[in-house]
Amino acid sequence: MSPLFTELHAGVSTTSAADTQALAARLALELRPGTVLALHGDLGAGKTTFTQGLARGLGIQESVTSPTFNIFTLHRGAGKTLVHLDAYRLNGAAALDELMIDDFLIAPWWLAIEWPENVAAWLPADALHLDLGIRADERHTVRLR
Ligand SMILES: Nc1ncnc2c1ncn2[C@@H]1O[C@H](COP(=O)(O)OP(=O)(O)OP(=O)(O)O)[C@@H](O)[C@H]1O
Ligand SMILES: [Mg+2]
Repeated sequence: MSPLFTELHAGVSTTSAADTQALAARLALELRPGTVLALHGDLGAGKTTFTQGLARGLGIQESVTSPTFNIFTLHRGAGKTLVHLDAYRLNGAAALDELMIDDFLIAPWWLAIEWPENVAAWLPADALHLDLGIRADERHTVRLR
């Protein structure tokens, strides 16, 4: 296992949004194409912030914002595709199938999902699950399950 994965398994705390983005950018370099990243965590835990870092790590320049109203957003750059899905308003795997998201997964692709528990049945068995949180001292945390 890479040192970064070991670190993430133990849990990493970050002191700023930039710090969380830098962590995600480092992780992006180690994720194979076709990776589904399930980003668990409450409102404001840093799921979108983390996805911004993933995009940067993949070399995608486009800005990543919260896709809540679009459900998912496609980011392309450097010959790569990052799909950012916000499942907050989705109710089950069937609702996700209706979006035909598979059609937008243009290889090489990475898929980051906020509120993955809403589409749990859709997630592949090899999805990476990250738990994001906020500690009492206001640091944010990222831990790989
Ligand atoms: N260490 C940190 N890591 C991540 N975000 C941080 C950190 N410190 C402060 N923040 C701030 O916390 C907020 C995190 O918001 P973000 O939109 O990423 O959360 P989210 O988990 O996507 O929430 P939602 O469920 O509403 O989509 C941002 O405003 C960010 O600037
Ligand atoms: Mg978000």
